[in-house]
Amino acid sequence: MASEKTVVAVTCTAPVNIAVIKYWGKRDEDLVLPINSSLSVTLHQDQLRTTTTAAISKDFTEDRIWLNGLEEDVGQPRLQACLREIRRLARKRRSAGDEDPVALGLSYKVHIASVNNFPTAAGLASSAAGYACLAYTLARVYGVESDLSEVARRGSGSACRSLYGGFVEWQMGERADGKDSIARQVAPESHWPELRVLILVVSAEKKPMGSTTGMRTSVETSPLLRFRAESVVPARMAEMTRCVQERDFPGFAQLTMKDSNQFHATCLDTFPPISYLSDTSWRIVHLVHRFNAHHRQTQVAYTFDAGPNAVVFALHDTVPEFVAAVRHCFPPESNGDKFLKGLPVPPVPLSDELKAALDVDPTPGGIKYIIATQVGPGPQILEDPRAHLLGPDGLPKPAA
Ligand code: DP6
Repeated sequence: MASEKTVVAVTCTAPVNIAVIKYWGKRDEDLVLPINSSLSVTLHQDQLRTTTTAAISKDFTEDRIWLNGLEEDVGQPRLQACLREIRRLARKRRSAGDEDPVALGLSYKVHIASVNNFPTAAGLASSAAGYACLAYTLARVYGVESDLSEVARRGSGSACRSLYGGFVEWQMGERADGKDSIARQVAPESHWPELRVLILVVSAEKKPMGSTTGMRTSVETSPLLRFRAESVVPARMAEMTRCVQERDFPGFAQLTMKDSNQFHATCLDTFPPISYLSDTSWRIVHLVHRFNAHHRQTQVAYTFDAGPNAVVFALHDTVPEFVAAVRHCFPPESNGDKFLKGLPVPPVPLSDELKAALDVDPTPGGIKYIIATQVGPGPQILEDPRAHLLGPDGLPKPAA
């Protein structure tokens, strides 16, 4: 067992991100290089975050990892790729400077503990926050200061976008070695303070096919995906960047919906076809379009990843009425008071005109709950040692 003094521990948090121009398809599976660039919004860590502690000690005899309190196989290829990559960067730094290799702890084994503050069962993408947090925390432990896109990306492609706050692009790059496939901030989290994000957690009937397998099949079989990557996404990246920079909500919202729809169209164009959207997802799509049509203005946008949950964007002033519309279409079943989590949203009545315009047969329980959040910052270091998930012995603290 390690003695207290010999354990060096660092704890960091990292955010979830949601893509508005989607990443779908790799040109290099090993290096995790995408076939197109993508752009995402970083969500606030007050509502959704991963916390990770990494500890090194000369007394540890093997690398170990605990996720949400349970020990997992440290031999998973993606985890191994991240560990290899960060140790390579640390070695590079050591050989470039005059750091003491022992101080860098390069020969030491690492213990890692990671927890999410949101339920994994909700089917919210946790791998992006998880691998971004792992890369960021390991970098602090090993004293690596270079760009961490490559480390995070090797865990999960979308994770490199969680290394920054605000609005983030992942440039696909051109090089075969992936050195120019990096994440970059387009605008900071303070840029668009009125923007709000609602996560509509739907009741999932089945576990959807994972992104990695899904996108591999799409790359192999979908001509639409190739067309999208080559002929659609480049112009969309430029247009989305403009919408963000100019805070053009209708432009941002329309392009977000179109890109989500095209991503799901490439899934349907995959052979055998992949379908991530459920009946409830489609009801949300129709609700958003009817809400916008009623207002004769694009005030709300949806986007869906590789699962049935919707992520909805709206400006601050629109949120109360939209939430009332969601409650009308999907009456909460048993947990009426717990239906809305996160940022407070004042209740407002729904006008008879809007009710009529929505024109729905309500689906009780179709949406389990809503998480209301906003754009947030990138990874953070927690300086307070009480935040460590690993105790002085290098094992998870009981509460972790
Ligand atoms: C639909 O990053 O989870 O969420 O690189 O294979 O781990 P791997 O895939 P992952 O894919 C995310 C796909 C998406 C769109 C996006 O986030 O851009």
